[in-house]
Amino acid sequence: MSKPKVAVLISGSGTNLQALLDAAGSNDYPAHVTLVISNRPDAYGLVRAQQAGVETVVIDHKSFKSRADFDAALDRCLRARDIDIICLAGFMRLLTPDFVRAWDGRMLNIHPSLLPAFKGLYVQQRAIDAGARFSGCTVHLVTPEMDEGPIVVQAVVPVLDGDTADTLAARIQVQEHRAYPLALRLVAEGRVRIDGPRTHIADALASGDGMMNPMG
Ligand code: GRF
Repeated sequence: MSKPKVAVLISGSGTNLQALLDAAGSNDYPAHVTLVISNRPDAYGLVRAQQAGVETVVIDHKSFKSRADFDAALDRCLRARDIDIICLAGFMRLLTPDFVRAWDGRMLNIHPSLLPAFKGLYVQQRAIDAGARFSGCTVHLVTPEMDEGPIVVQAVVPVLDGDTADTLAARIQVQEHRAYPLALRLVAEGRVRIDGPRTHIADALASGDGMMNPMG
């Protein structure tokens, strides 16, 4: 069976894109990253894709009259290249419900908090301000509401005394770069079954252990 084709949608630096490119560079990874789309012509992730020999397309949202027109162009580009799975990786555009529904079950997003806590923006500062002991990242299937949808993988990091939004973001990103390739692998292998708000993952190991922060 041929591997599913993956498009990664970005708006910026693309460190998660890099993690996916690195994972997909290995023969035993079950998906090919064949396309990177950016809505911003200056996104550094485009350079990462070119260095990896992956096709890049810029679809600048500023040249479209409406969100629906932009999403239609996105959809045409993806379908023209037979894309099977979309990974949103720091893609800073809201997608229309029609587009999201058209890719139902085949579009992943990564978010730098433990959803459903702290949806939206400035999430690291908000976790610090709320006094959270833990934060982390979530890879989830995309549904029309922002930062919602069945969760595939989460990773947890402690929030430490003296953390700033930047130090916490850096700690979370280390885990993002592990969590996203894992989540894409699970979806590409057809091991993720959606059951309402939950997913069931076939043949996955789940740790039954808890974590404590601070340790007494
Ligand atoms: C990540 O923190 C991701 O969780 C969020 O946007 C950021 C993108 O970072 N959705 P990068 O461009 O992958 O470095």
